[in-house]
Amino acid sequence: MDQRRPLIAGNWKMYKTQSEATETAKQLIRYVGAVTDIDMMIAPTFIALTAVFAAIKNSPVALGAQNLYWEDEGAYTGEISAPMLKSAGCQYCIIGHSERRQYFGETDETVNKKIKAAIKAGLQPVFCVGETEKEREAGQTLSILDKQIKKGLEGLVSEQLDPLIIAYEPVWAIGTGKTATDDQAQEVHRFIRSLVKNNFGQALSDSIRILYGGSVKPDNIASLMAMPDIDGALVGGASLSAESFSQIIKFKR
Ligand code: PGA
Repeated sequence: MDQRRPLIAGNWKMYKTQSEATETAKQLIRYVGAVTDIDMMIAPTFIALTAVFAAIKNSPVALGAQNLYWEDEGAYTGEISAPMLKSAGCQYCIIGHSERRQYFGETDETVNKKIKAAIKAGLQPVFCVGETEKEREAGQTLSILDKQIKKGLEGLVSEQLDPLIIAYEPVWAIGTGKTATDDQAQEVHRFIRSLVKNNFGQALSDSIRILYGGSVKPDNIASLMAMPDIDGALVGGASLSAESFSQIIKFKR
């Protein structure tokens, strides 16, 4: 569907000090500041959000966070809420990344609360789903995704889901250099779109953007983006350098 505007998002994970993050953001804008045909986002660490926002606010590159807590405020030491992210200039928030599920106890239930909190605050959730290598080998890929998506979006109705973005990130492809083949990714993206259709209707399934993530690089982005149900990418390692991230953004189209 060509009305879906591509989104290329960079997840900087726990990399870069404030000054390094700001420097990379400024460099990135020098490379991609004139790009107008796709949406772009970078997600630095919490502590660099404000400084990076100051550097990108008059550019086409938007700001994202990597996580949030679902209460607006309260005695939750160490946590950061959706309204706080919004006030720091965020437009997007990555939610349910597999590293959070794996190392920080994120579950489908907490993901669900976070997605609701993000939408309520006017943030666009980048809702991450994906199977592990073991699950893929056991033939459970589609059933795992079905469960993650149903539980992650439980209690939400299609009218609320316009801001939602889904990122399919096979866990075995993250940071490993192993990418899903274009066809493997397309098959899952098509399945996710059909799940959205069955649960939330045709209009949302036509308009929702589904990103692919997992070892996206300048040399594999174009063929992934050529797949009909892949609407963008969530990039980790290759987004850390402004040069390689800009090459991904400027993939041949
Ligand atoms: P990667 O990470 O591009 O380094 O594989 C992707 C992600 O974790 O979002």
